[in-house]
Amino acid sequence: MKVLITGGAGYIGSHLVDALIRRGDEVLVIDNLSTGKIENLRHLLGHPAFHFINDSILNESLLERFVPSMDLIFHLAAAVGVRNILQDPLAAINTNVRGTEVVLGLAFKYWKRLVLASTSEIYGKASHVPFREDDDRVLGSTAVARWS
Ligand SMILES: NC(=O)c1ccc[n+]([C@@H]2O[C@H](COP(=O)([O-])OP(=O)(O)OC[C@H]3O[C@@H](n4cnc5c(N)ncnc54)[C@H](O)[C@@H]3O)[C@@H](O)[C@H]2O)c1
Repeated sequence: MKVLITGGAGYIGSHLVDALIRRGDEVLVIDNLSTGKIENLRHLLGHPAFHFINDSILNESLLERFVPSMDLIFHLAAAVGVRNILQDPLAAINTNVRGTEVVLGLAFKYWKRLVLASTSEIYGKASHVPFREDDDRVLGSTAVARWS
């Protein structure tokens, strides 16, 4: 299977890359290394089934060169971390909203299956663990930047 992982140099993505390569998939990672690290993938550089492009998911024409040939897309690229987002809210919105729109738009255009990681922030103020996908959401006031 040919798999595109946006954000594949990050924490979750790089472990997913390892698992997919191990089971015999061909993997393309597109990551701008803003919070991800090439060290997470260094052991795979040169592997015939692994490809890495250092670029942004906002580069729609780049993504469109590759999406048509993929069997599956994992969309993990995101501005992550409260401090990171509060430092540059506009960049975070661009990546998380516009970037996701680009990836979803291409997945729809070429009718590709896509897994969207969403965000742990969706669990809001829930305090009981483990969280469940069908739990109720309790978010803070939008006057507080974290919840805006
Ligand atoms: N649903 C949940 O409970 C849950 C929990 C944790 C994480 N997540 C989501 O999983 C995803 C990965 O999280 P993570 O913990 O591995 O974070 P991470 O920061 O380690 O990985 C995110 C990756 O995206 C890359 N990236 C950021 N902006 C980019 C851009 N414009 N173009 C290309 N790449 C870009 C970063 O360089 C990084 O490698 C995020 O979307 C996060 O919100 C969901």
